[in-house]
Amino acid sequence: MGADATGPGVGALTVRRGVPAGAERRVAELYWDAFGRKLGPALNPADKAVPFIAAHLNTDRAVCALLDGRIVGLAGYQHGGRALTGGSAGAVLRAYGHLRGLHRLLLLALFERRPAPGQLVMDGIAVDPDLRGRGVGSLLIEEVAAVAAEQDCREIRLDVIDTNPRARALYERRGFTAVRTEHTPYLRGLLGFGAVTTMRRPVGTGSGENRER
Ligand SMILES: CC(C)(COP(=O)(O)OP(=O)(O)OC[C@H]1O[C@@H](n2cnc3c(N)ncnc32)[C@H](O)[C@@H]1OP(=O)(O)O)[C@@H](O)C(=O)NCCC(=O)NCCS
Repeated sequence: MGADATGPGVGALTVRRGVPAGAERRVAELYWDAFGRKLGPALNPADKAVPFIAAHLNTDRAVCALLDGRIVGLAGYQHGGRALTGGSAGAVLRAYGHLRGLHRLLLLALFERRPAPGQLVMDGIAVDPDLRGRGVGSLLIEEVAAVAAEQDCREIRLDVIDTNPRARALYERRGFTAVRTEHTPYLRGLLGFGAVTTMRRPVGTGSGENRER
């Protein structure tokens, strides 16, 4: 199932469920490009991180935006106990070595966000840097909202860091409201952000804006 959209300068876009077979590497690169700063301390160097992410994707836990067959954006989500990015503790230790792997596991645990019953957690939205600001992210959010509705979820939840006010503004425009901010100043030096805000959007209400499809 997918959605078609046109926007100024974007051309015909297709939004589809799941990561197409063979596109795992591209998805991992987009993901790393967007979140490498945040995940770097846990998964650096990039030449190890990108193949690791690609090899451990749960490909049915994302919606993807394609332009002329090329993936230009994705949104990962967590539902039913699985998220887009997988990889067991054992896999991290095997890839990075037991000694180096351990502190990485602790860092990754900081990013763990388990959904409460009735929630779908959106945990990673990334758009090709050349195509940002043209509505691709909004389309992906609405497709995740459609998934949440089909899965009979009550609400969508996400976290946004304090150093990403533009992403937060986008979520507010798409109907999300901030419910809680956790201040973690001790992480600023290590991870680059010092607070995480949890936002929620009830399922079925939309954003109030015209949807581009
Ligand atoms: C956040 C992101 C997914 C939005 O995708 P998008 O396709 O640019 O989103 P849309 O075109 O639908 O909406 C544009 C809005 O996104 C927000 N935005 C956030 N970062 C942006 C960026 N680098 N460039 C353009 N818009 C950005 C802004 O609110 C922008 O509106 P504005 O131009 O009025 O400021 C995309 O910018 C991205 O991949 N950023 C890096 C990864 C990231 O920060 N993910 C979110 C983590 S919580």
